Amino acid sequence: MGAPDLKARHAWLAQEIARHDVLYHQQDSPEISDAAYDALCRELDELEALYPELNPGAGPSRKVGAKAAAGFGKVRHRVPMLSLGNVFTDEDVEDFLARIRRFLGGSPDRPVRLLAEQKIDGLSLSLRYEKGALVQAATRGDGEEGEDVSANVMSVSGIPKALPSGAPETIDVRGEIYMTKSAFSALNMQQEAEGKPLFANPRNAAAGSLRQLDASVTAARKLEFFGYAIGYCSAPVATTQSAIRERLESWGFSVPKPHICTDNREALQKFYGEIQAARASLPYDIDGLVYKVDDLALQERLGFVSRAPRWAVAHKFPAEKAFTKVLAITVQVGRTGTLTPVAELEPVNVGGVMVGRATLHNEDEIARKDIRIGDTVIIQRAGDVIPQVLGYLEEQRPKDALPYVFPNLCPVCGSRALRESGEVARRCTGGLVCAAQAVERLRHFVSRGAMDIEGMGEKVIQEFWDAGLVRTPADIFSLEARNKGSLTPISARDGWGAQSAQKLFDAIAARTTIPLERFIFALGIRQIGEATAKKLAAHYLNVRTLMDALQRANDRESEAYADLLSIEDVGPSVADDLIAFFTEPHNITVVEDLLKHVQPTDYVRIDVSGSPVAGKTVVFTGSLEKLTRDEAKAQAERLGAKVSGSVSGKTDYVVAGADAGSKLKKARELGVAVLSEDEWINLIG
Ligand code: IVH
Repeated sequence: MGAPDLKARHAWLAQEIARHDVLYHQQDSPEISDAAYDALCRELDELEALYPELNPGAGPSRKVGAKAAAGFGKVRHRVPMLSLGNVFTDEDVEDFLARIRRFLGGSPDRPVRLLAEQKIDGLSLSLRYEKGALVQAATRGDGEEGEDVSANVMSVSGIPKALPSGAPETIDVRGEIYMTKSAFSALNMQQEAEGKPLFANPRNAAAGSLRQLDASVTAARKLEFFGYAIGYCSAPVATTQSAIRERLESWGFSVPKPHICTDNREALQKFYGEIQAARASLPYDIDGLVYKVDDLALQERLGFVSRAPRWAVAHKFPAEKAFTKVLAITVQVGRTGTLTPVAELEPVNVGGVMVGRATLHNEDEIARKDIRIGDTVIIQRAGDVIPQVLGYLEEQRPKDALPYVFPNLCPVCGSRALRESGEVARRCTGGLVCAAQAVERLRHFVSRGAMDIEGMGEKVIQEFWDAGLVRTPADIFSLEARNKGSLTPISARDGWGAQSAQKLFDAIAARTTIPLERFIFALGIRQIGEATAKKLAAHYLNVRTLMDALQRANDRESEAYADLLSIEDVGPSVADDLIAFFTEPHNITVVEDLLKHVQPTDYVRIDVSGSPVAGKTVVFTGSLEKLTRDEAKAQAERLGAKVSGSVSGKTDYVVAGADAGSKLKKARELGVAVLSEDEWINLIG
């Protein structure tokens, strides 16, 4: 780049970063991935390091509100940092308790002692202490791996730098780092006085303050910490959650107060009401309560599903509401062609966040609520969920407001949009002809849980789509080769340079091998989320086996179909979508083209080499006495077995409890080994 180019690039980067800072920190609506943002910051820093004259002021030109700037090391959590399931009503709490009782067995009114405390609206943090000294602090990240923010937390006064003697040799203390409401207001006043962007809420301010490459910036911000859990620990510290609270306090941590420990539903309800009433006057933000099974041995038995424990739940406070005007109603087309109506709103502040759009869900909802352009509506925001329109104010409706007519043509490609009987969604029939669907599918393909191609965010996909550079997933992998001989290389595009183009090519090349489950998820098949993709990978192990089996399963009488249905999470409807995907010629072409570039690695089961049931398929039937069905299942899966709901020639064991019926009969017919509950317990030791 020549001097004028460098100057222009520098100005563009600085402006673009500032714009994304505002989107992220003030509007809570980032347009690009963290990775893409980091790439911009990195490029700016590199430019300024090479050409200091570009930025005559001392220090980097971006000072405020940078999110996860590059440069934080990664920390793998020894014990994953889980998230929590949410409940909103008393019935939901009842269901949560019922699930616990069912899992643990015993009578439906077996007492379950819960600890209830405030749910702090901050960022979770894991603090590692070794031989009593604080040695590391990490953010949650994706739960498995977070960012090393050790240098930043050293200045947080509420985080003890040492534990008293008697604490375990190695221990991870988990809790929430947050900013008080008053510190947040003071910070924003200072920001304003200095002409810097404001933070939207205390959580964003805490996040922006913690994730600073320059730890002295963090030190200047007032952050606080509450402890509430233990992660990895070399020796047990307690047998109950309430005792953990006590230990944490005795070691110098603050814990959220007050709390209760009870097995009484009314006491829980009363506590919820009291804390909700006190919420506005608390010095910090909370967004609900957390209920945790007090007994740690029971927590251990209950374990977790996906990323949330069975033994804890967040009881959220009702969402925050606001009134505003509907300026327009637009229709978005999603990855699977679903048409979603969206209310374009006069921007309004809802609980600290500016909201300009809200979902109207679908055709029936918009008709049922009779929302019209020009209406004044009530909108609500619940946590990070997209805001919803609850209803309109009749007395404020303009006289000429007309009922909304839902389109029956796709607003993007003009194909017919059909609604299949029994479905709420109207879908565009354009398939990959429809730009919206193809672009959405590509976006999904490169997204985080899928192929996770760094630097290839939504905007880049749209840009490459518009330029005709990428139309199918395989095109992404041939970009670099096509770029080589091109007269209009990517590096010559607006906003790109040789360095950023090469960075992108490298990120793409890094994904030419990918775990099978990620590959399956990336294909964007209807109803196939990350969890089901993983189950499919665990079942078929290899991409060719999977494709072959799903094509054979098209014959609903085949063994392949029965085998498909034996996978947990796969019912007839999911099976239909899978088969439909893998028997559609266009999709096969797309996948085959992709497989010329990408090698999905075979699924590897966790090391269960010592397990007598690893790789075996087990069916539980009849009522078990010592274990509940859920517990037996979770235990079998932990030991590497596949638990199936139906008996077939592939079943290795049928564990039959009392009153076993047709499955036991079928097992006998097929000559499958049948075990009693005791025999099963003996087998797994
Ligand atoms: S216990 C298995 N207690 O809420 C997770 N979490 O939305 C156990 N949080 O990731 C967490 N206050 O960061 C617990 N008193 C509290 C909490 C709390 C806030 C956070 C935590 C968690 C998130 C889930």
